[in-house]
Amino acid sequence: MSKQIENTQHPNSNYHIPVLFNETIDTLNINPNGIYVDCTYGGGGHSKGILKNLSSKGKLFAFDQDVDAQENLQSDDRLIFVPHNFRYLQKFLRLHNVQQVDGVLADLGVSSHQFDVGERGFSTRFDGPLDMRMNTNENKTAAKVIQSFTEQQLHKIFEQFGEVTNAKTLAKHIVQNRTKQPLQTIEQFKMLISAVVKGNPNKYLAQVFQALRIEVNEEIDALKEMLLQLNNLVKPGGRAAIITFHSLEDRVVKNFFRNGSFQNELSDNPFAIGEKKKTWKLINHKPIVANEDELKNNKRSRSAKLRVAEKI
Ligand SMILES: C[S@@+](CC[C@H](N)C(=O)[O-])C[C@H]1O[C@@H](n2cnc3c(N)ncnc32)[C@H](O)[C@@H]1O
Repeated sequence: MSKQIENTQHPNSNYHIPVLFNETIDTLNINPNGIYVDCTYGGGGHSKGILKNLSSKGKLFAFDQDVDAQENLQSDDRLIFVPHNFRYLQKFLRLHNVQQVDGVLADLGVSSHQFDVGERGFSTRFDGPLDMRMNTNENKTAAKVIQSFTEQQLHKIFEQFGEVTNAKTLAKHIVQNRTKQPLQTIEQFKMLISAVVKGNPNKYLAQVFQALRIEVNEEIDALKEMLLQLNNLVKPGGRAAIITFHSLEDRVVKNFFRNGSFQNELSDNPFAIGEKKKTWKLINHKPIVANEDELKNNKRSRSAKLRVAEKI
């Protein structure tokens, strides 16, 4: 039965409008008395949807590594906020005596709030510090990455995390010019790379910034570490719903749900076909994407893909 709920009462829609809201709540197939985890609380929109479907016996653990997300905390006895990186999911749940849960949601990447506050340094639209940290207690900022990474390291992140067409040229240009001028702000960085921008400048800058952000926050490593923990954490019959915003993340999630790991068994050993016991049953074979209404009303939903799987 559908458990769709109104998509109009998000706790803080100025902070962030949740994407694929009904689709996520619906496919999580929430057990009213269950224990759930929202790995990415943000503005609390998805969390509110989960809480609405829980009885007074249910519980929701909500993680977010950005202190700003705490502005949006809803007063609800069933909600336990964990102000940490979801790569430490099991560790923090164990501190709360939780060994297994009924479902997990992760709505990856950054919130609209993080993009909209120029001082956070995530957006190409404002000048601000070259920062991009979701957790401002961490040391690695975008400025440090740009100033200290080798040409090869920069090439790799621009190519893999940003799919920047001239990643090699860009990396070389940065390394050759980064000591010639101050490099602490977005505008200074944009000026530095202006000579090698290729194609549509907005698209190009968005790709470069995405690559830096993923590196600064170690997003792919954190995602893989969190997913691997789900194999033991989610109860049989429980579900995991993951929303991604770019192809690299989506591939990681797709492969994980297929194999329960990140080793490609087939290419390692062709005889392994059929031998390995599956860990996850796919609820949707193709990722769920936003419908026309949502696409019209929320630009961010354009690249969102939801994959859901049930623990076997
Ligand atoms: C797209 S927003 C989530 C929005 C939320 N679903 C809502 O309805 O408002 C992503 C949030 O996850 C947080 N985040 C991203 N990666 C994280 C990680 N590895 N650990 C903890 N929080 C993370 C970000 O700080 C951000 O607030």
